[in-house]
Amino acid sequence: MSVALIILAAGQGTRMNSDTPKVLHRLAGAPLLVHAMKAGAALAPDRTVVVAGTGAEAVGAAARDWDPEVQVVVQAEQLGTAHAVAQARAALEGFSGDIIMLYGDTPFVTPETLERMQAARAHHAVVVLGFEAADPARYGRLVMAGEVLERIVEFKDADAATRAITLCNSGVVCADAATLWSLIDAVGNDNAAGEYYLTDIVGIARAQGLSATAVTCPEAETLGVNTRADLAAAEAAFQARARAQALEDGVTLTAPETVFFAHDTVIGRDAVIEPNVIFGPGVTVESGAILRAFSHLEGCHVSAGATVGPFARLRPGAELAENVHVGNFVEIKNAQLAEGAKVNHLSYIGDADVGARTNVGAGTITCNYDGVFKHRTTIGADAFIGSDTMLVAPVTVGDRAMTATGAVITEDVPAGAMAIARARQVTKPGLAEKFMKRLKALKAKGH
Ligand code: UD1
Ligand code: CA
Repeated sequence: MSVALIILAAGQGTRMNSDTPKVLHRLAGAPLLVHAMKAGAALAPDRTVVVAGTGAEAVGAAARDWDPEVQVVVQAEQLGTAHAVAQARAALEGFSGDIIMLYGDTPFVTPETLERMQAARAHHAVVVLGFEAADPARYGRLVMAGEVLERIVEFKDADAATRAITLCNSGVVCADAATLWSLIDAVGNDNAAGEYYLTDIVGIARAQGLSATAVTCPEAETLGVNTRADLAAAEAAFQARARAQALEDGVTLTAPETVFFAHDTVIGRDAVIEPNVIFGPGVTVESGAILRAFSHLEGCHVSAGATVGPFARLRPGAELAENVHVGNFVEIKNAQLAEGAKVNHLSYIGDADVGARTNVGAGTITCNYDGVFKHRTTIGADAFIGSDTMLVAPVTVGDRAMTATGAVITEDVPAGAMAIARARQVTKPGLAEKFMKRLKALKAKGH
């Protein structure tokens, strides 16, 4: 059965108290919206439509950044969840499979749960994802008669008996396209909020003799983010799961509670991660690599046998081949370090290629930026870059070449050559003592 997704993401998220639309707040390095899109993407949907409203341009850009094929429609006025779904209708013209509706602020729904909903759809016109709420608060209540879902009652419209129900609506709904559109057409806004409720499609379906049911999942999956406190709780839940998963996958974490993963971090078996390592998005680490304490990695690849840190920063485009060593207070950006290369102390290597087994001395900097343009530094294999070398890019240092300590390299260095680019030392015997004596005499005179 083919499937399409509608992701509702038009709401302002007033309780976030933010200039940023709620669904663009980040969880594990990705917008909340992307988490919802990822969950749905596991069903290999034919089409995905994001309904944007508040900050529609930014929301649309974030959606397309994750999936260029996504369609973004704008709900100019937020008149309710059914109205939001109706905005996706034109974009889904001609689609005739199941439609699954997700919320952009609900990041943890699992693909397995969505698959169970789709399976239940084979026997029911409408399938709603419900959960037993520890504190049902203001959620919509699911009114069941055995297996049959009779209707959903919003908190604002519920009487005391209905409010006593603890089985709540997560907001995720699945229905086949033709049925959905005809039900949506029948939804009115005569209720406490004056909104078009998507939840009303259940009662309408039942009145038409169609069947509806609920599939349930643990409350943790349906956690929606409404406040900054919810966002922090969601982050904690994500990290707890990611740490447990890494341990199970055979990764050593010395102090798991201090390591923060991104939504897409990939770590190989037998990698070792010391305390306080932080992952931004787009990091892959191969088996057996060692990430030492307080290192920060983003958009980079670390190959088997490499060691990073302590206190290293790998920025987007850093590619470390096997057995590369990157040591303390070293920053690498958009640079390839070939097998066995070493940059062990206090360096910045940006927009560069460093050849195999090359040693980059302490304090070396690739001066890659002239204030307007970025330029590349290319260093060959088996080269030796002396401590405190400034490599003024664009510049090339050949295989087996050396630069002298303190050199400012502005011209290419051929293979096998030694480049010395610093002032010659002048040593004056006795001058230091003489100079000191004069300074002390001046001080004694009260200067
Ligand atoms: C909704 C459900 C409720 C459920 C709860 C779960 C309805 C009527 N109620 O209530 O049964 O228990 O979610 O969290 O569906 N949105 C739009 N356009 C709109 C209105 C909402 O895109 O016009 C989006 C919001 O951005 C949000 C989602 O839909 O992502 C849910 O809207 P929200 O207003 O938070 O619904 P609730 O009142 O929480
Ligand atoms: Ca909500």
